[in-house]
Amino acid sequence: MFQWLNQTKETETYDRVPEHVAIIMDGNGRWAQKRGLPRIMGHREGMKSIREVVRVANELGVKSLTLYAFSTENWTRPEEEVSFLMKLPAQFLESDLKELDAQNVKVEVAGEVSRLPHFTREAVEQAKLDTQHNTGLRLIFALNYGGRDELVQVMQKLGAQVQAGTLSPDAITPETIERELMTGSVTDVDFVIRTSGEQRLSNFLLWQAAYAEFYFTDVLWPEFRRDAFLAAIEDYNQRTRRFGGV
Ligand code: FPP
Repeated sequence: MFQWLNQTKETETYDRVPEHVAIIMDGNGRWAQKRGLPRIMGHREGMKSIREVVRVANELGVKSLTLYAFSTENWTRPEEEVSFLMKLPAQFLESDLKELDAQNVKVEVAGEVSRLPHFTREAVEQAKLDTQHNTGLRLIFALNYGGRDELVQVMQKLGAQVQAGTLSPDAITPETIERELMTGSVTDVDFVIRTSGEQRLSNFLLWQAAYAEFYFTDVLWPEFRRDAFLAAIEDYNQRTRRFGGV
């Protein structure tokens, strides 16, 4: 039963662990501004939260973790901030890939990677290759990702098949659509977490989050560490998921 009630915060005490967790890592800028630091320092500090949350998610037995690292809308930020954000995946993977590999983590990416700078694309593609045979947590970086963009691409692909006569419109099912999503074979999200007090989906995993449970916390992403993540998992344990039934 609900052994987590004993407040031990041990990762093995949860009854129900969401298979696919998706996180909107919000509040980096505010974290930095509160300290009189440039916004980019918040993103740097946020990398430490990524490191910790990945480790805990893996310990818990979460199967997939999708992190919203850069949205299709984030290009409108000041050039200096965009260029800093683009360097972070390479920096993170350079410092952490060995450790991720040792933890049996499989790195993946969802998003329009062709528009990313060469060094960012190279770093994530290399990490994908290096960890492709790992069987632990699937760590999906949503990079230049937008849910509407993703669905437009799916429709374009299916539309082309219909036009070519290889697909009948009647044969389009949820499964046909899911096969074309950027998250690959990892589809349904069980648990969406958004930090920093904002309560929006912001174009994240629109299809995949159809039946997700949502968790909003005021904690800013750079401060979202082990205990904050376990508190979210505790909350998930109290939810009753009905998937439209009774
Ligand atoms: C939102 O906070 C955060 C982002 C747009 C970027 C998130 C990126 C990271 C945490 C680092 C990515 C690292 C890797 C390894 C991929 P915000 O800047 O909108 O904060 P604010 O709402 O307080 O301004």
